Amino acid sequence: MFENKDPLRITETLLRDGHQSLAATRMRTSDMVPMLEQLDEIGYFSIEAWGGATFDTCLRFLNEDPWERLRMLKKHLKKTPIQMLLRGQNVLGYSHYADDVVMEFVKRAVDNGVGVLRIFDALNDVRNMEVAIKTAKQAGAHVQGAFVYTISPFHNEQTFLAVAKDLVSLGCDSICIKDMAGLLAPYNAYNLVKVLKANISVPIHIHTHYTSGMASMTYLKAIEAGVDIVDCSLSPFAMGSSQPATEAIVAALEGNERDTGINKEQLYPLADYFRNVKRELEKTFKLNTAIEIDTKVLKFQIPGGMLSNLLNQMKEQGMADKFPELIAEMPRVRAELGYPPLVTPTSQIVGSMAAFNVMLGRYKVIPEEVKNLVRGKYGRTPAPIDRSIRKLILGDEPTIDHRPADDISPQLENSRQELAAKSYSNVSTEDILSYTLFPEVALKFLEANR
Ligand code: CO
Repeated sequence: MFENKDPLRITETLLRDGHQSLAATRMRTSDMVPMLEQLDEIGYFSIEAWGGATFDTCLRFLNEDPWERLRMLKKHLKKTPIQMLLRGQNVLGYSHYADDVVMEFVKRAVDNGVGVLRIFDALNDVRNMEVAIKTAKQAGAHVQGAFVYTISPFHNEQTFLAVAKDLVSLGCDSICIKDMAGLLAPYNAYNLVKVLKANISVPIHIHTHYTSGMASMTYLKAIEAGVDIVDCSLSPFAMGSSQPATEAIVAALEGNERDTGINKEQLYPLADYFRNVKRELEKTFKLNTAIEIDTKVLKFQIPGGMLSNLLNQMKEQGMADKFPELIAEMPRVRAELGYPPLVTPTSQIVGSMAAFNVMLGRYKVIPEEVKNLVRGKYGRTPAPIDRSIRKLILGDEPTIDHRPADDISPQLENSRQELAAKSYSNVSTEDILSYTLFPEVALKFLEANR
C-alpha cells in the first residue's frame, strides 16, 4: 500500500500552534514545565514551542521574557528538538526587518535552544526567506523551508513544487506544506505530496488546521502519498481551529506499516494534565476554546478567528449589517491585489482593505500596509496586481521589484542607542531584538522588570 514505509514522524504543536489556535496563545511557561520531561520521552520528531505569536504574547500579555521561556524549555527538553515558526524577513513581527535583525535573531534563537526552524514567507517569495535560511544553516539548525498553501487560479502543484525546489537549493533540510487555514482537501493533499515526493529528496512535512473539518482525512491521504512528518497537538489543544489530535493519528496507524512507534499510553497522562491547563486558562483569561468547525472557510479562505474579529470590528462601527458585503469583498480584493495567500500579515492587509471598501467606498481610503503591498514592499505577489487598482492605490508612484529588505538599513545599533537613551544600557542582545520587533511592548516589559 505504501511506497514510503518509514514510520510516520510527528511534530507536537501543543506548546505553540495548539494553544495559539485555541487559547489565544495564553499558555504560560509555568503550565508547560511540569510535563516537559515526559513530552521529551515520547519520541516526537520535534516539539513546536516557540515563535509564531508566542513571542509577542509572552511580552504583551503574560509578562514573560520569551527568551527566558526558550532557555527553560531547552533545559528540560534534552532529546527532542525545539521547533519554532519564523516569518522569514518579517521574523516574528508584521513588517520587513533589516538583514542584521534577521541574522542576529536566528543566531540567538539557535543559541538559546531552537533546533528546528520552520521558515516561511506570506507571499512564498523565496527572496524573503534566504537570509534566515542561510543564517540558520550556518548556526547548525535543521532548517525547514515552508510554502504556504492557498487556492487561486495562480497556484497549483507545479507552482508549489517550484517554490519547494528553490527552498531545497538554498539548503533546506526538509520542506513543509503550510496549510494555515485548513484549505487542503484530502485528495489534493495526496496529489501534492506525490508530486513533491517524486521530485524532492528531503523529507516532506505537512501542517494543517481542522478549521474546515478535513484535517484528519487530509493527513491520512498525505500519509498514503508518502508524507514523512505531520503536525499534531495533544487532544485538549487539538481540532477546532487547531491540528488533528496526536493520540488519534498515533492510534490510526498502530500496527500498520507506517506505525509511528509512539506508545499512546504515554500520551494519556499528558493529555489529562493539559486538559486541566486548558480549563485553567479558560477561567483566567476568559477564553472560549470550543471553536467550531466551519467549512465556509473553503469559500472565503478567511480563518474563522479572523472572521469573528472582522465581525466585531464592524459591530463596533455600527455596520454589522454590511458583514455579508465584507465577506464578498474579501475574495475580490484578494484577486485585485494579486492573489496573496491569506496568512499573517497578508490576511490582515486584505481584510482591512476589504473592510474599508465596504464601509467607505471602494479604494477611497487606503491603509499604508496596502500601499506597501502594491509598492512591492512585501515581495512579489503570486499574480500581477490589477493595473487599474494599482493606479487607484498608488497613482504614478513607482513600485519596486527587488528584494524589499535591500532597501532597509541595519537596525540593531539604532535600537541599542534608543534603549541607552532611555537608560537601558546594560540590556542583552536578546532584549535589543525584542525591542526592535515590538518596541512599545518590550519597553513596557523592561520597565516592569527593571
Ligand atoms: Co498553523
